Amino acid sequence: NSYRVAILGATGAVGTELLELLDRRNFPLADLKLLASPRSAGKTLPFKGENLPIEAVGDRSFDQVDIVLASAGGSTSKAWADKIVNAGAVMIDNSSAFRMNPEVPLVVPEVNPEAAATHQGIIANPNCTTILMAVAVWPLHKIQPIKRIVVATYQSASGAGARAMEEVKTQTQAILNGENPVPEVFPYPLAFNLFPHNTPINEQGYCEEEMKMLNETRKIFGEPNLRVTATCIRVPVLRAHSEAINLEFAEPFPVAKAKSILADAPGVKLVEDWQANYFPMPIDATGQDDVLVGRIRQDISHPSGLELWLSGDQIRKGAALNAVQIAELLVEKSYISANSNELSAIS
Ligand code: A2P
Repeated sequence: NSYRVAILGATGAVGTELLELLDRRNFPLADLKLLASPRSAGKTLPFKGENLPIEAVGDRSFDQVDIVLASAGGSTSKAWADKIVNAGAVMIDNSSAFRMNPEVPLVVPEVNPEAAATHQGIIANPNCTTILMAVAVWPLHKIQPIKRIVVATYQSASGAGARAMEEVKTQTQAILNGENPVPEVFPYPLAFNLFPHNTPINEQGYCEEEMKMLNETRKIFGEPNLRVTATCIRVPVLRAHSEAINLEFAEPFPVAKAKSILADAPGVKLVEDWQANYFPMPIDATGQDDVLVGRIRQDISHPSGLELWLSGDQIRKGAALNAVQIAELLVEKSYISANSNELSAIS
């Protein structure tokens, strides 16, 4: 069986990674359509030795498409979702537009693959920092329920898209040249700097990114009362996020047990060399499928606390890989029918 796939936002940081992953993972493609804004129409992107044309997304773009991998921002996802679903395709949406919609499954394949079965045409790909944390924390939570998570993030420029990554590079160069560049994508200079995540702040003082980590983790874990508090910080790293995570359990969780569980956990690579003081770093996580987890230690302030540190490629597992894994899940579990524009009936 093979499937007709469209990438909406094919020219973006996540879009180009989606292309690479569909190729590398040999996704069973009958057809691949690249969609972006009218700015990109007529350009091409290489795929399996060919140059595929990019089309401006339009009313007929989703005819004859089985799966749409959408990564063109929330407003674009909202604008096209009905058209996609009415055309009989399944939309795997990387934006936050539908994540908290109770009818839309929010899926991390290592955590809640079964949720994908309930889709009604849209499946949401979670927020990148949330995916990375979920992959690392779920294997422990399964063994012994977590009571509370306290997390601080160190988020790369890639989360804000290809232009943001470019801005950090040119800004760094300009500052080294003694210039004082004006930031365009970010509100403040990110080169040689850091700042709290620049999403809107609620009345409790939490920004949107921090609330995503709370609400999305609860939804993915199926734990509506899980306590999570996050501080999200943007750092001048190009494309992998890191997180310092403190976990509180009801009972002590032995460090050795946590390490052995994480060493075998899907999507996780245990990275620790205590002698060399070598632990996960964004530079090593970049371009890797696995979330690197290490520096696992007993919280000296709490008998039932564990500390861990992770780095994960925000564009890879934090976005594109998770979306492609969801598409693979749809195919493997027959949650979608091949080469048909009928929405698969899921009983
Ligand atoms: P384009 O390159 O034509 O602007 P990133 O997250 O890296 O910034 O990428 C955003 C992606 O979303 C790009 O592929 C971009 O296409 C696409 N995009 C942005 N706005 C629209 C739109 N209104 N319609 C379709 N695609 C869009």
